Order: sequence, then C-alpha cells, then structure tokens
Amino acid sequence: METNRIVSKAQLPDEEKIEISLRPKYLEEYIGQGKAKDKLRIFIEAAKNRGEALDHCLLNGPPGLGKTTLAGVIANEMGVNVKITSGPAIERPGDLASILTNLEDNDVLFIDEIHRISRSVEEILYPAMEDFALDLIIGKGPSARSVRLDLNHFTLIGATTRSGQLASPFRDRFGVLLNLELYDNESLKDIILRSASILQIPIEDQGAYEIASRSRGTPRIANRLLKRIRDYAEVVCDGIITEKVAKDGLKMLEIDMDGLDELDRTILRTMVINYGGRPVGIETIAASLGEERITIEDVYEPFLLQNNYIQRTPRGRIPTRKAYEHLGIPFTKEEV
Ligand SMILES: Nc1ncnc2c1ncn2[C@@H]1O[C@H](COP(=O)(O)OP(=O)(O)O)[C@@H](O)[C@H]1O
Ligand SMILES: [Mg+2]
Repeated sequence: METNRIVSKAQLPDEEKIEISLRPKYLEEYIGQGKAKDKLRIFIEAAKNRGEALDHCLLNGPPGLGKTTLAGVIANEMGVNVKITSGPAIERPGDLASILTNLEDNDVLFIDEIHRISRSVEEILYPAMEDFALDLIIGKGPSARSVRLDLNHFTLIGATTRSGQLASPFRDRFGVLLNLELYDNESLKDIILRSASILQIPIEDQGAYEIASRSRGTPRIANRLLKRIRDYAEVVCDGIITEKVAKDGLKMLEIDMDGLDELDRTILRTMVINYGGRPVGIETIAASLGEERITIEDVYEPFLLQNNYIQRTPRGRIPTRKAYEHLGIPFTKEEV
C-alpha cells in the first residue's frame, strides 16, 4: 500500500531518524529552491539587524520537498529555538495557548499540516499572529470576562501541501509566502551526493545522477532510493554506486527510466487497456485498483498529470500518447 511504496512522498515509519541526520541545518547547505532562499536571506538578515522576530512564513508544496527542513533552517539562521507541532496534534485551543505562552522572544513555532488545524484553534492564532496576544475567557456564564494576555514576539512557520485550503484571512496573516517547487535533476544529484557523504556511501557522479533522474523531483524519494541502491551495491557488487549499479538496482526495484513504479504503470494500463483510453472517473480508477480515491488523487495522480501521462477532462481522466508510448502500446486514438 501507499505507506510502504518506495516512491511514496510520505515519510515512512522508520525514516524519521535517518531524515534528521540528513537535514541541512543552514541555508548554505539547503540545495536548490533558489527563489525561496533568496527571499529568506534578505528577510532573515533584516530581522536580525533589527533584533526582531522574522515575519510569519507559510511554506507550501508537495510532501518531501523540504518544508520541515526549511523551518529548522530558518530557526537556526535566526539563532532561536524552534517548537514543533502539527495541525492535527493541537486538539483544543488550550493546547495552543500553552504552547504560545511558553515561547521566548523571537522563537519559531512550526505548525506542520497547518491546513488541518481546527476552527477554534485557528481563532486563537489570529490575535496571536497579529498582535502577539492571547484572548482568554475567564469564568462561565454571565460572570465570564475576557482577559488579554501579552505574548512574546514569535515567528509562526506553517507548512502545508494545500495552501488553497487555508481561509484567506488566515493566509493573509503570513508576511512571507514561499512555494517550494519540484527539484531539477542537478539539484537532486547534489542532494544525493551530500547524503551519500554523510552516510558514507561510495557513489560516482553518474550513479547519483541516475538515481536523481528517477526521484520525481523529490528529495525524500532521492534519499530513499539512495539507501535501497546502497543495499543493492553492497550485496551484489563491491558497494560502489556506479551508473551501472544504479541502473541495475533501480531495475530490481521496478522503478523505470522516468521514476514510475509498478503502481503508476498499473494505473496507466488500467486506463489504456481496460477502458480503451476513454475518459474514466477517479472513483472508477480507484475502485479497479482497490485504492482509496484520496490516495490516487493526492499521491499518484499529481506526478502523472504533471508529467503529462494523463490529462483531466470534464468527463474524466484520459491517458495521453506519452502513456501509450511508455507502456509500449501503439497509440491508435486521435491526438490529445
Ligand atoms: N533543499 C534540500 N537540500 C538537501 N536535502 C533536502 C532538501 N530538502 C529536503 N531534503 C531532504 O529530504 C528529506 C525530506 O525533507 P522534509 O523537510 O522532511 O520534507 P517535507 O517536510 O516537505 O515533507 C529530509 O530528510 C532532507 O534531508
Ligand atoms: Mg514535513
């Protein structure tokens, strides 16, 4: 299933520890994302010069692109503490209130999956973000009164895979909006070389590039493939990841030239063979694969759409010529 898929963008259960060791700590080590880094360098320097907290930042982008990493980098660059939590973990407004009152001046509060925060918690955040204040209701019934408590100035960093799901007044309270983009192969290659040196994995440039080109633009996948190919290299040859070793290892993992795995190909085959390339609904695709609709939509489809293997039409998804070619099936339909 999705959680064990090698090209899954989500963090796998045993991945946490190793990811921490691979996380860049400063902007200097954070590879790629030039636009985001350029903005941050300026804002961080300005905030530091004024001795103030950095503006609240919203990091938007698909899983595995480096949002959590970047939040840590920002805190390190600012030289402040970071408190980490997530939208679903903050159950009651009181949970957030106690986190907020424990923040020191200029600290970073990182809220992962911020689009999943509850309404009542979101309402506590508004005055906290804007005025660094906490509005508490004391007592019950007619004698209840509201007390305003001052908070230390802090930086909220929110991470989301779906910034469109944030209410616009919420989004507007972030001074810095950063969209993380899929990485190009050169950047991924550098990420792989860096990780290999930390993990002391012998690798050649072309081997790193081969892995990079099949990593779907995603550092988390690149690091994961690197570890699997290391296993392969250690067991079947002398442990050095050359271009050939990388190619052979990826073949064993059934990851093809474009980074598609068996499940991606099954989706395409279903559309091409079972449905003859006609428009097919997402529910139908999900049902015939025995997967949840949301899994198909959030995990498989974005990559297939972005790379033009499938297209969305008002009547459903259709496979493109590229999909047929990828499967080695003659394209007999009209051009789409
Ligand atoms: N720009 C980068 N440079 C180097 N490594 C990165 C970069 N971005 C992400 N990584 C690596 O990818 C892994 C996943 O990143 P993470 O920050 O957890 O992604 P996200 O929070 O967006 O899901 C991390 O372990 C980190 O080592
Ligand atoms: Mg994360």
